[in-house]
Amino acid sequence: MINQFQLLAHTPRIMRDPLNYLTELTQTHGDIVEIDVAGFKAFVLAEPEAIEHVLVSNFRNYSKETPQFETFKFVAGDGLLNSDGELWRQQRRIMQPAFHRKKLALLLDAMIRWTAKRADAWRQKSGQVLLIEDEMMTLSLEILCETLFGVELKARSEELVHTVNRTLDYVMFRARMPFDAIDNVPLKVVRDYKASMIEVDRFVDELIAARRASDGSHDDLLQLLIDATDDMGNPLSRDIIRDEIVTMIVAGYETVATGLTWTWYLLDKNRAVVEQARREIGRVLDGRELSLETLRELVYTQAIFTEGLRLYPPAWVVSRKALDVDEIAGLHVPAGSPIIISPYAMHHNARYWFGAERFTPERWLPEWGRKRHKWQYIPFGAGPRLCIGARFAEMEAAVVLATLLPKFDVVYAGQHAPVMNALVTIRPKNHMPMRVTST
Ligand code: HEM
Repeated sequence: MINQFQLLAHTPRIMRDPLNYLTELTQTHGDIVEIDVAGFKAFVLAEPEAIEHVLVSNFRNYSKETPQFETFKFVAGDGLLNSDGELWRQQRRIMQPAFHRKKLALLLDAMIRWTAKRADAWRQKSGQVLLIEDEMMTLSLEILCETLFGVELKARSEELVHTVNRTLDYVMFRARMPFDAIDNVPLKVVRDYKASMIEVDRFVDELIAARRASDGSHDDLLQLLIDATDDMGNPLSRDIIRDEIVTMIVAGYETVATGLTWTWYLLDKNRAVVEQARREIGRVLDGRELSLETLRELVYTQAIFTEGLRLYPPAWVVSRKALDVDEIAGLHVPAGSPIIISPYAMHHNARYWFGAERFTPERWLPEWGRKRHKWQYIPFGAGPRLCIGARFAEMEAAVVLATLLPKFDVVYAGQHAPVMNALVTIRPKNHMPMRVTST
């Protein structure tokens, strides 16, 4: 247990380096840390069974009424990520079919096409230093917009990435400044946010209008939303459809992109892994195209992203509020208690991971043989609120790695090792410059 005085003393560290703070906290104070602030309790969990209790078996007792999701609402409203209870259940029912395994198979072609375009662009720039996080963000937004909303971004992609990033900057700003009055202060971050939200809304309204005017033959997430009815049988309002679209954008592109960004960095630092992946890709593809079948055979290549998400889980914190009193691992949890689950701290906990700090894709191969607790690996959360886009993300990452890894050497070109910046996702603090050279 730590008390309010310790918490106060720790505050500068929490603000500066929350990832390592959370990891050390759980390594030194135990996997479940109770924080007592003048009798008011909060809990930090890095213990698989406690995580299972909150996210899976007793998930109904834990709501998303937390500062993390309240600040997300400034951008994504009451979309699927932020909602609770009946509203959440209805939204999940409507959107789940878009992420069905058979549906995802139809999206593969767009993933391959956009990645091939990026490979062409990289070939033109061979030998140059590129900001890999920008490259990955643009690519994943292009893929997301075509697969879920049927729209090709073309020249607009970089601009839209920039616009959405401004809204996420504001989410972080408000997480640190939780006072509505701050919006009246003439700050750049607030001005940028307001201007960006107008742009985002315009983009979404254009999407909806174009689709309503079309022949209705589309078969994607946007069409599901437009055709859907709520539990009362009424069509979804423009505001609800808007919230769902913006939710998918903010939850779906930056996460994949930052996961891939750190994976490229890890690959550069582990050249033997690159060689092994190239051998696997060469053997599996040998005259064949990327397809669901060949992707399935790329076991090692897939393990690379799985391991990348272990070391750098983009969604590094997941929070909840206890609605009613509960007990977690024998600890009394009063109603209203905040619960902090950190996938980052869980994935770095040396009590659960052999060589926790080492990049070891092999640990995900069937022959590795070490037993793992089901809930010690949670980059996509767990239980009914498990990421709806988890398989989509894995498929996209496998396509990106299988396409680009054999064709390019991607070498870190920064002067100092990159530093993690725990924002909405874990971003590199001073970009991720990497020299991209055709092999
Ligand atoms: C590597 C990529 C991704 C990571 C690490 C990730 C992580 C997560 C996590 C941890 C959650 C659970 C949050 C919680 O329980 O509070 C979540 C939920 C969600 N994710 Fe992802 N995500 C990724 C990709 C995607 C993609 C590609 C999409 C959409 C295309 C997406 C859409 C969502 C949505 C809508 C939710 C809310 C689901 C619900 O509550 O029913 N995510 N994601």
